[in-house]
Amino acid sequence: MNEQDTEWMWNETRQVGTDYDVLAEVSAYDQRMARIRDVESENAGILRLLNLPPAADVLEIGCGTGRFIRAAAKAGLRTTAIDVSRIMLDYVQDMALREGLTDLHTHRCGFLTIPFPPDSFDAVVSELALHHLPDTWKLVALRNVARALKPGGQFLLRDVVFSVPDGEEPEQCLKHVLDAYPAMRAEVARHVATEFSTYSWIMEGLLRRAGFEILSATPAGESILVYHCRKR
Ligand SMILES: C[S@@+](CC[C@H](N)C(=O)[O-])C[C@H]1O[C@@H](n2cnc3c(N)ncnc32)[C@H](O)[C@@H]1O
Repeated sequence: MNEQDTEWMWNETRQVGTDYDVLAEVSAYDQRMARIRDVESENAGILRLLNLPPAADVLEIGCGTGRFIRAAAKAGLRTTAIDVSRIMLDYVQDMALREGLTDLHTHRCGFLTIPFPPDSFDAVVSELALHHLPDTWKLVALRNVARALKPGGQFLLRDVVFSVPDGEEPEQCLKHVLDAYPAMRAEVARHVATEFSTYSWIMEGLLRRAGFEILSATPAGESILVYHCRKR
């Protein structure tokens, strides 16, 4: 494609907010997450919920350091991980090699550039990555996810999503998020100010519009929601 063909498209290779394409971020990421998440039990919970047969095909989008996709490979699933950060993918490949995970494949691409044929995967998992896209482009991303899934395939989405209770002003809801993560206040402030986390009713509208049935929406920490969906 020449430049005129792509000038209207969102450039997903340009990192928004935290820059995940620098070496310092790879080494700091898991330690920072450990302050607010128990990733090992999250991964076990996702694998339990998906309940996939052995050797099912799973794609993770925005894999970061690859904690989920490596757990999935260890559980005997056929695994593919994509991310727009070359540095994160190098780390995942290196870890997969050390852990003997020969059935884990990586590609440098993102939600908007998924290269796989339609109906490729039994399940797609994406955690804390979709909020890097503005809402307009989230719908394009979710349509791409739906296309990559086999009919009836499952989509597990964990992300920062704001649910504003009736009678609360939106700013109050956004401030609660800062108060809820004092150990990461600066990062959370940058997230709220510069990244594209959206409201729950918008996210749910986007998921349905993209062709998903929402099987469950489970809170997993202040302003974190886990959506378990099925391709209609
Ligand atoms: C906050 S990290 C989340 C990592 C991991 N999924 C987790 O739950 O810890 C966000 C990751 O999404 C990646 N990312 C950003 N925009 C993306 C896009 N459009 N498509 C795929 N990955 C993207 C970043 O490079 C980064 O590795």
